[in-house]
Amino acid sequence: MWHGRFKQGMAEMVKDFTQSLDIDWRMAECDIQGSIAHVRMLGKTGLLKVDEAEKIELGLQKVLREIQNGTFKPSRDLEDVHMNIEARLTEIEPLGAKLHTARSRNDQVATTTRLYLRERLKILSDDLRELLKVFVNNAEHHVNVIIPGYTHMQQAQPISMGHYWLAWYEAFKRDSSRLDFALDSLNECPLGAGALAGSTLPIDREMTSEILGFSSPTRNSLDSVAQRDYMTDYHYFASMLMIHVSRLCNDLINWNTQEFAFIVLPDEFCTGSSMMPQKKNPDVLELARGKTGQVIGNFIDLLFTLKGLPMTYNRDLQEDKRGLWASLDTVESVVRILTALLAKVDVNEKVALSGLENGYSLATDVAEYLVSKGVPFRDAHMKVGKLVGWCIENNLSFEDLTLTQWQEHIPEVDEAMLKILSPRESVRRRNVFGGTGFDQVMERIQEVNL
Ligand code: ARG
Repeated sequence: MWHGRFKQGMAEMVKDFTQSLDIDWRMAECDIQGSIAHVRMLGKTGLLKVDEAEKIELGLQKVLREIQNGTFKPSRDLEDVHMNIEARLTEIEPLGAKLHTARSRNDQVATTTRLYLRERLKILSDDLRELLKVFVNNAEHHVNVIIPGYTHMQQAQPISMGHYWLAWYEAFKRDSSRLDFALDSLNECPLGAGALAGSTLPIDREMTSEILGFSSPTRNSLDSVAQRDYMTDYHYFASMLMIHVSRLCNDLINWNTQEFAFIVLPDEFCTGSSMMPQKKNPDVLELARGKTGQVIGNFIDLLFTLKGLPMTYNRDLQEDKRGLWASLDTVESVVRILTALLAKVDVNEKVALSGLENGYSLATDVAEYLVSKGVPFRDAHMKVGKLVGWCIENNLSFEDLTLTQWQEHIPEVDEAMLKILSPRESVRRRNVFGGTGFDQVMERIQEVNL
């Protein structure tokens, strides 16, 4: 409609193929926000008369209301959110034809998308804080609960369940820093970069940047319309977060099995089977784990779209949003449902502790005790290892051994050692900075500030 160059309109199939309305309409309010900043700047710099700018802004406010109350029906014929809004504005207010002064859709879409992403990331940041709080709350409740800690899915050493929850606190806290980084990396305003080279008209980029709440205008107009780093930074955050989610869910799925039975999942977060009446399935956890691939896939999708693209804007970039929305929606829903579920996970303390009975997870404690008696660690390791082998052959656990039996194998063992040979002592004595000792866990709980 605005093109003087063409003798013929666009073929229907081309319209369908090139439109992005189905993807970008969700940014409509942010697009208007950007246009309002732009028109105020045009009025302030004298590029438009003050009353012209005011009328255009009023028109934009009207379009905004139509969007909010659902009376605005955008048309795919108009290609995208930007053209739809501008067309409706110009219907309401013919001066709307002046709005696109010193602006291209290339800098416009870059600005609008940053505004939209910023909004969503702020919400996500709040949601993530709630998730972090749940980890800390659970840690506080379960400080004194002892569970087996695993490496290679083999019992390794007893740990405090509180320490386990705090491990996820640390991981998701790093995710939250990555989210802050993504917010930081979108915090410059591309508006005024124009199609690629800026404008011959004396615009004030500082002003639009400030109105829109960015830290400053972007420094290079070419880069402004070409780059999508702020999106890849988001995707990296999202991918890492989902990788953490998938590992956490996997633990809980295992611990919820009849074989482990360490935890009990809340009924309202589980599903039944259409055939097997006894089933209570951890589908929420499985779905959260299962959605991880999509989020990583969306990251890879964008990286491939960007790879080898010439400076500056290319229409390929229109494809940047589909995966971004999908990822934002997935991450938001996963974080919310996990927060709700985790707050209701019950631990079966006795079962978790009894899981340690037949293992030899105190073997390191014995070896370290011997070290404190002057035995070189490698020798201690060998002696305890041999004893474990002997116990297995004779179907005995450490608890079954008398002091004499201990001493037959390891003469350095004494009465005092038997006193420390319990899961609780084992956890308590791992009182090094960052270790699972109860005091360490409590200290970390008190230190974190949410
Ligand atoms: N809808 C486009 C996008 O999302 C913006 C339009 C830019 N189009 C163009 N031909 N320069 O990237």
